[in-house]
Amino acid sequence: MRTVPIHTKPLYEVLCGAGLLQEAGARLKPLLAADRIAVVCDDTVAPLYLKTLHDSLAAAGFSVIDCVVPAGEAHKNFATLQALLERFAENGLTRRDAVAALGGGVIGDMAGFAAGVYMRGIRYVQLPTTLLAAVDSSVGGKTAIDLANGKNLAGLFLQPSAVLCDTDCLATLPPEILADGAAEAIKTGVLDDETLFALFEERPVGQEGLEDLIARCVLYKAGVVERDERELFERKLLNLGHTAAHSIEYLSGYTVAHGHAVAAGLAIIARAADRLGWSEEPVGARICACLEKNGLPTTTHFSPADLAAAAARDKKRGGDQITLVVPRRIGACDLRPTPLSDLTRVFSAGLEA
Ligand code: NAD
Ligand code: GLY
Repeated sequence: MRTVPIHTKPLYEVLCGAGLLQEAGARLKPLLAADRIAVVCDDTVAPLYLKTLHDSLAAAGFSVIDCVVPAGEAHKNFATLQALLERFAENGLTRRDAVAALGGGVIGDMAGFAAGVYMRGIRYVQLPTTLLAAVDSSVGGKTAIDLANGKNLAGLFLQPSAVLCDTDCLATLPPEILADGAAEAIKTGVLDDETLFALFEERPVGQEGLEDLIARCVLYKAGVVERDERELFERKLLNLGHTAAHSIEYLSGYTVAHGHAVAAGLAIIARAADRLGWSEEPVGARICACLEKNGLPTTTHFSPADLAAAAARDKKRGGDQITLVVPRRIGACDLRPTPLSDLTRVFSAGLEA
């Protein structure tokens, strides 16, 4: 098992290894002086893993409230948030109690947000069951729901009290959902670590070696979050590929999964970096080949103008600018404040054949 401490306030640990769902109750009991835990999960994950977690928490003396919501980004919205909050209240969750997010990034973001606003904030823990949630979304305390006007437009920074990543859960992921996680892991390689990137070039992400891969990505993210918890400077780098990605997700009505959209966004900004002379060595072809090897897309059918118009709704926008993250080489990226009026040109450069 791997342990990565996250030195935020509160300090918490990310544990990653096999069998952690069964151990969750015993591990969380000393950490959370709670009577009740509301376990939030979606209706795909519930039949797979809810009973194991429920029984483990109950055996440790928690009173467990199961909160099952419909799966998918289309349900990461106010209606589901409200249903969760009402369920917490109906079941007498108090300020000393806690929420457990069992699932992918959609559940982690939404359950974390619900915990953050219920009774002005109660504690929560993350139990990621997708690779994407394990390498990225369960760590760092970003919580959110989508609004009709765009993605993640309502949310809070709220660090979890613990992250328990049971790698056994990843065995049931369909290949395309595993690939969503590969996209965020490849992003980590492009941001910081050419040797990590090279692993994904050599062999597509599969079930082998996930514990190490997750620990490497979490270790990198931990450092960034510790230095810039609220995304005032360095944490913006973690949005590599995300400007086009959020536009693609929004324009598709959230039928394109986040990881697939991130892959396309990464390819678009990498090709743009080469064509606009922003990279110091060619990055586009190498990044695209790596994404393709991992079963991920490198383009979109949305036009540069539509992508740019949708990006104007992005929460990363500040005034008439948006900060793009641009690969300089594999393992190093730059922040590049860009006028919104220039985005169509950038996306055009990134989408040219
Ligand atoms: P997801 O939560 O929708 O999960 C994808 C699908 O996999 C769902 O249908 C789910 O039911 C299913 N699933 C989950 N675990 C499974 C398992 N073990 N076996 C079989 N099926 C399983 O999507 P995701 O890719 O995990 O997360 C994407 C979300 O994460 C987006 O909303 C994105 O905005 C968010 N995100 C947040 C952050 C952050 O820092 N907070 C970072 C990256 C992404
Ligand atoms: N996934 C982006 C962040 O956590 O900041």
